[in-house]
Amino acid sequence: MKFFVDTADIDAISELNDLGMVDGVTTNPSLILKSGRDILEVTKEICELVSGPVSAEVIALEADDMIAEGRKLAEIATNIAVKVPLTWAGLKACKTLSDDGLMVNVTLCFSANQALLAAKAGATFISPFVGRLDDINIDGLDLIADIRTIYDNYGFETQILAASMRSANHMSECAKIGADVATAPPAVIKAMANHVLTDKGLAQFVKDAAEASIKIL
Ligand code: E4P
Repeated sequence: MKFFVDTADIDAISELNDLGMVDGVTTNPSLILKSGRDILEVTKEICELVSGPVSAEVIALEADDMIAEGRKLAEIATNIAVKVPLTWAGLKACKTLSDDGLMVNVTLCFSANQALLAAKAGATFISPFVGRLDDINIDGLDLIADIRTIYDNYGFETQILAASMRSANHMSECAKIGADVATAPPAVIKAMANHVLTDKGLAQFVKDAAEASIKIL
């Protein structure tokens, strides 16, 4: 499973990228707001840092305007994936932008039917939001599994980009189901390294090393 990092924070992207943990980046208007940066400037900087797909989201609601915005975003760099919402207008924009040869990430997906439509419209990525479904007591991981089944049944090439990852558990569950990509905030990716038994074991080793006066350097 590929890891995309869900942030517009350059320092955070840089730290994970240096460790080889970043296969791409996703942003959205809320993350741009959080960064306090201009969308075109910060997105360009991210694209210079990361060679994989960098999703930049349109803000228009009508298809023609989304297409114009998408084409402008795509001028930033060749690794831009234009992010459009899963509305009827967004699907129209997806089809046109995909026909242009651009990568398109269809976002705000909350049902298998929406994912089926996005694949038919030529989406490169579909972004089902796991955490936001969990928030309303619907198991978001079930949606990832349903989309996996449907895409495999018909050989759709659209990649499942599991989004709204809120925990390390979401990451491993999506990997088990077979999501192609998961996009997570830096803190969630870092939390994947944690285990209480690792902490407990290390504390004992530190104690015993001191008692044995072990010195290596
Ligand atoms: C995905 O592309 C979205 O930016 C993101 O995963 C949304 O996550 P949230 O539901 O935690 O805001």
